[in-house]
Amino acid sequence: MLNPWETTDIKDYNKLIEEFGITPMKPTKELMDNRYFRRGIIFGHRDFFKFWNADKRSILTGIMPSGPMHLGHKMVVDQCVYYQNKGIKTRIAIADVEAITTRRIPEEKAREYAVEEYLLNWVALGLDLDKADVYAQTNRSVPYYRLASLLSGRTTMAEMQAIYGELTPGKVTSIFIQASDILHPQLDEYDGLEHVLVPVGVDQDPHIRFVRDLAEKIHFIKPSSTYHRFMTGLEGGKMSSSVPNSYLALNDDLPTALKKASNVLTGGRNTAEEQRRLGGDISKCVVYELYAYHFIEDDDELKKIYEDCTSGKMLCGECKQILKKKVEEFMTDLKNKREANREKVEQFAKEKLFK
Ligand code: TRP
Ligand code: SF4
Repeated sequence: MLNPWETTDIKDYNKLIEEFGITPMKPTKELMDNRYFRRGIIFGHRDFFKFWNADKRSILTGIMPSGPMHLGHKMVVDQCVYYQNKGIKTRIAIADVEAITTRRIPEEKAREYAVEEYLLNWVALGLDLDKADVYAQTNRSVPYYRLASLLSGRTTMAEMQAIYGELTPGKVTSIFIQASDILHPQLDEYDGLEHVLVPVGVDQDPHIRFVRDLAEKIHFIKPSSTYHRFMTGLEGGKMSSSVPNSYLALNDDLPTALKKASNVLTGGRNTAEEQRRLGGDISKCVVYELYAYHFIEDDDELKKIYEDCTSGKMLCGECKQILKKKVEEFMTDLKNKREANREKVEQFAKEKLFK
């Protein structure tokens, strides 16, 4: 069972595909300008191509403001920016209701996280606030809340428990609010029937299945979804918001970020001699994963690292220096962009998001 409220450690994506009826992603040529598609990081979908080929379409995702934004969250934002740059209407829900009701985060704290951790970084990562529809769940419209309320009459407790397991009142509320996130774009008060894509991590699939069933019941177009792989924790194991050393937070200060980069798990062998002979064990290497997911866009550059590693030409010490340089550039640039946009973002939050 996938639990959308706990960090999952997934070893076998093929099994997931079989068990939950996710379609393996076979990206077309057009999508190859995106590294998540090109590198198989987005490994599965539901009805993606119905969305992709539709005339009327939009994307929507939601992020819970319950702690630091890290590289795992960045994956969703990068995808949103990609679609937005293609001219596709982009909506982002700040899931503060979910943070408040399922994580017991105080409302004020959720708002602070929403701006300091999320919005500022989204904009720094390239999201165009003027063109996107960014909203907070606590502050959407009457039709959105009406939809959330009415959807609760379209299911049973047994159906919900089969999908989610144990429920609390807070989870039930946030499930219907989230269903409304995904379905409300199709209300007449918004854009009417259209294909909505929801790019998420695969832990969110229970939500997607639930919402697709609801969509059918109210004669809306079933939302499409894509699923990306989880990142491994920096020191191996799972990347988890409750273990600061397992992730690089976008707001980490530079010394912290560089220290984390130094400690990233490599695929290094026991001795330099052995590594020269056998090459690095790159399939276990989190440094390489960081390059592939985030820090190296150019395929030739990535291929060179792959070859130098597996041939034993380059050792992990040298490779980590490259990583640290990439991390430093990325973090410095991001920080500059956050500060350059701070005034604008804070004004947006005050006047539009939490008005
Ligand atoms: N449940 C998601 C999370 O835990 C956040 C979320 C809220 C969401 N509404 C959404 C995700 C709509 C996708 C679509 O992060
Ligand atoms: Fe990983 Fe680089 Fe070491 Fe290869 S050389 S195992 S890619 S850190």
